[in-house]
Amino acid sequence: MPRTLTTESGAPVADNQNSASAGEYGPLLVQDQHLLEKLARFNRERIPERVVHARGSGAYGYFEVTDEVSRYTKAAFLSQVGKRTELFLRFSTVAGALGSTDAVRDPRGFAVKFYTEQGNYDLVGNNTPVFFIKDPLKFPDFIHSQKRDPHTGVQEADNVWDFWAHSPASTHQITWLFGDRGIPASYRHMNGFGSHTYQWVNAEGRAHWVKYHFKTNQGIRSLDAGQAAETAGGDADSHQRDLHQAIGRGVFPSWTLYVQLMPVEDAADYRFNPFDLTKVWPHADYPLVKVGRLVLNRNPENVFAEVEQAAFSPNNFVPGIGPSPDKMLQGRLFAYADAQRYRLGVNHTQLPVNAPRAAEAANYGQDGLGALNPNGRGKNYEPNSYGGPAQTDEALHAPQPVSGHTGTYATPAHGKDDDFFQAGELYRLMTEAEKSRLIANLAGSLAQVGRDDVVERNLAHFHAADPEYGARLTAAVTELRAANED
Ligand code: HEM
Repeated sequence: MPRTLTTESGAPVADNQNSASAGEYGPLLVQDQHLLEKLARFNRERIPERVVHARGSGAYGYFEVTDEVSRYTKAAFLSQVGKRTELFLRFSTVAGALGSTDAVRDPRGFAVKFYTEQGNYDLVGNNTPVFFIKDPLKFPDFIHSQKRDPHTGVQEADNVWDFWAHSPASTHQITWLFGDRGIPASYRHMNGFGSHTYQWVNAEGRAHWVKYHFKTNQGIRSLDAGQAAETAGGDADSHQRDLHQAIGRGVFPSWTLYVQLMPVEDAADYRFNPFDLTKVWPHADYPLVKVGRLVLNRNPENVFAEVEQAAFSPNNFVPGIGPSPDKMLQGRLFAYADAQRYRLGVNHTQLPVNAPRAAEAANYGQDGLGALNPNGRGKNYEPNSYGGPAQTDEALHAPQPVSGHTGTYATPAHGKDDDFFQAGELYRLMTEAEKSRLIANLAGSLAQVGRDDVVERNLAHFHAADPEYGARLTAAVTELRAANED
């Protein structure tokens, strides 16, 4: 016998094939609760999609510490070799809408929620070590320029490149994006980066600045422009299908986590501003230190409940890990939970995928739409005389010295900082074949731009990165634009 079909309030449903009507030919009855509830429920299935990174895939797994790092951070989940922590990871593309295609040239999100015994730690990164801009004030403009135009309703190369024409610091990330790694073959075959600089502090209060690198153990695999077009045309969900099927087959993808550690005293005089998100720290300056292994081994049961409603916030730290003064990071510390209060509601932290698992949330927040009020009959004010939760008085991370006057400042440049040097370094590292593909990819996009001044400004950025890079791109764009005019 199958289970009885019921209404949402649990009453049995007599007929799920025919609506109740006034006689065989008559109009339908308002008293048909099952029909009304079913139609009304259907109308409310959609929630706002993420304003960026709307399209994504998620899976559960664990993180295992393989190397001793407790001398750098007091975070409990990193405290000893062999320790395992459950996690949820959501991969994503950035610009596309919820139903968009996976195999596109776009950065990929790499967002990890570690369910630690000191609360959830969210590391919300990308598959690129750098980003396009340095100040969160520019983020809405940047994203508007990359998404659909308000008038034409399609993504416009004019807008994409017009924004970049006015953002020279994006040259580094553009070089990355139009290079071979710009279209991963799958989510399993790419690296992840925290991208920002974060702070680690140990039990003695000694701090380091830290950058995270997750290196794929599946090897890097990418699609070239032709392969991507073919994949996208044949299967819009190629990344989702690959991840779901691999985990379903028991082929569990894994990544090795490394960090770069900079003693805090180095930051002031380092040749690059270590809090500028458009720059990397060359490994020769700060080598990779191995931390552990991240494994994905379980698919979500329900994509909406667990992936669509997953909420990551760069502001979810645990003791021993904290923010840096990177302005982009500081902006993000606000943006995510705010977006989620709008997208999912104020009680999104109580949803199973978001709630702490190895720790317990214990505070005096209450009520709001969809509240479960997990603190039950506990007192709803603090301090109280009834043994309610109380503060620890232990600093979560190390204090940072500050100086100067309030004001609006450009991100300070250190000795070797300009907007182009590292873009040129990345170009010069490439093989001849890689350079040729990079130039062809860039030219294919830039040649679609209508305005000469926008093309010129962009070409000047690549020229500043490396004269050969600029010259080759100029030649390729000129040729393509001439062909387009024919
Ligand atoms: C100031 C700059 C930025 C702002 C204001 C911003 C804002 C946002 C917002 C509002 C969301 C949607 C959150 C949600 O609805 O759950 C989001 C998603 C995301 N962002 Fe950012 N973002 C910024 C920069 C970055 C950077 C630099 C990275 C990577 C290093 C990044 C990685 C991600 C990822 C991976 C997601 C998807 C998280 C998920 O899977 O749910 N963002 N961002």
